[in-house]
Amino acid sequence: MPLRIESKTQALLRKGRSAKVAGCVAGAASRDRTAIVVLLTNTGNRPVALITGASSGIGETFARKLAARGYDLILVARRADRLNALAAELPVHSEILPADLTTEEGLQAAEAAIRNCPQLALLVNNAGFGTLKRFWVADLHGQEQMHKLHVMAAMRLTHAALGAMTERGHGAVINVSSVAAFGQTEGNVSYCATKAWMNAFTQGLDIELRGAGSKVKVQALCPGYTMSEFHDTLGVDRNNIPRFMWLQADAVVEASLRGLDRGEVIVIPGAVYKIGAAVMRHLSHGLRRRIGKPGKLGKDQRV
Ligand SMILES: NC(=O)c1ccc[n+]([C@@H]2O[C@H](COP(=O)([O-])OP(=O)(O)OC[C@H]3O[C@@H](n4cnc5c(N)ncnc54)[C@H](OP(=O)(O)O)[C@@H]3O)[C@@H](O)[C@H]2O)c1
Repeated sequence: MPLRIESKTQALLRKGRSAKVAGCVAGAASRDRTAIVVLLTNTGNRPVALITGASSGIGETFARKLAARGYDLILVARRADRLNALAAELPVHSEILPADLTTEEGLQAAEAAIRNCPQLALLVNNAGFGTLKRFWVADLHGQEQMHKLHVMAAMRLTHAALGAMTERGHGAVINVSSVAAFGQTEGNVSYCATKAWMNAFTQGLDIELRGAGSKVKVQALCPGYTMSEFHDTLGVDRNNIPRFMWLQADAVVEASLRGLDRGEVIVIPGAVYKIGAAVMRHLSHGLRRRIGKPGKLGKDQRV
């Protein structure tokens, strides 16, 4: 059942109030009949960041840290109540865009929000999830959804953002990937493959941007195990993973933003994972096959 169609923004526009007051999401709301706009703000000249998957974990942490850095925000995810609560709490102008980015409707709404936002300075493609079981046993729908979210949504939103950013000569895109991009493990085939795509996509974009002499930055953020709702959604017991392997979302986002300041294209938070990724990069497939068995850590991944 679609949500009430008319947003506060649309109501004001209908009453003839200044279009300038309408934030970046107004255009998106008119396209996405399920979208609602809760906060109505003029973002003025402040930079705006659009964050997907902002309703929890790493995305929510990006929202808090970017707000502290003076960004206004567009928060995208499916759970409108979570986005609403976060927007109300943040000390900056925040608009929410409840959207399922695996649907054409949701994706078009987010693309429109990006295109309608001349102050967009940062896009964070963060929304993502994992699945369990070997590829041929896993539900095909979940595998398709993962590819739609990690690959198609990230690709389309980046395309929507980069046109205007390259014209303006500044801006950045952060793709939240994973250390899973550097190897393969049983039960994680699509996850590793989509995250490896994210890294390759980001590095390719960096080559094109540098080649074009652009100052626009791109980054693939590659965290290891991070405390968030990810493993709850997945149904995996965190106790199977040693404590030293866990990162806090705060440290992950801090490393990303520090890396962005320095122009780092691949950011791997934490010494353990930096070393692990460096080793994985140089291993033969035969050795990766042995390492990729579920073992004790991944016992939830067994069919
Ligand atoms: N946690 C880890 O150990 C870890 C490690 C490496 C990489 N990562 C990556 O970090 C990113 C963030 O994950 P997290 O750890 O913060 O997990 P999380 O707390 O579960 O957050 C995932 C976010 O993605 C959103 N999302 C999921 N499906 C969506 C859809 N179809 N449309 C729009 N939004 C959707 C969720 O919001 P709604 O449910 O409200 O839509 C939520 O805000 C993911 O890309 C993940 O692959 C996580």
